[in-house]
Amino acid sequence: MKNPHELIEKNVGLLTVMILFAIALGAMAQITPLMFQQQTMEPVKGLRPYTALELEGRDIYIREGCVGCHSQMIRPFRAETERYGHYSVAGESVWEHPFLWGSKRTGPDLARVGQRYSDEWHRVHLLNPRDVVPESNMPGYPWLEDTVLDGKLTANKMEVFRSFGVPYTDEDIANAQAEVAGKTEMEALIAYLQQLGTHLK
Ligand code: HEC
Repeated sequence: MKNPHELIEKNVGLLTVMILFAIALGAMAQITPLMFQQQTMEPVKGLRPYTALELEGRDIYIREGCVGCHSQMIRPFRAETERYGHYSVAGESVWEHPFLWGSKRTGPDLARVGQRYSDEWHRVHLLNPRDVVPESNMPGYPWLEDTVLDGKLTANKMEVFRSFGVPYTDEDIANAQAEVAGKTEMEALIAYLQQLGTHLK
């Protein structure tokens, strides 16, 4: 055999193995360094775990499918940073399970929407977006105002998050139900929205 490459090209099994080897090598070269870079593993300074109420709000955000229309990932491009603020950094997402970066922007990115509007603005907007943004095609979520949380599962959720490395204290977990019980889903969702992107200083 003059050309060893011919051997590979004419043998499907060998070709498959070599292709997989090449892809695995490329993937390892890209992925392995990320596992050892402090920048991608360490929480940014000032990051804190979600409070019990914010955590419930996040679950409502997931349940209602907000992630299907809103990303939470500001890319490092001028058009994005001028509109939304500082681009998202990895250290802001280290305690996100699962992360909600999203990939569809029917509405604006929400990665730094926290503190941009008042709680009352969010309440009116979530009840009927057209009351504050006449051209909006976002659906209203009026039932959030009527549904009261009992917080029975909040402590369990926090324990699961703690097993993933989120630094909840025993005290956080013990107080979880009391913090959530009696609040509406609307209050929880707004608490979640109001802290988005506010930890990066
Ligand atoms: C069908 C797509 C769609 C869904 C689903 C959706 N939105 Fe929106 N959202 C939009 C659009 C479009 C806008 C821009 C117009 C407006 O402000 O209403 C928007 C705007 C917003 C804004 C204001 C952002 C800004 O910077 O001005 C917030 C906050 C928001 N949405 C939160 C939510 C939450 C929370 C949910 C889930 C409960 C949700 N959205 C579900 C489409 C959607």
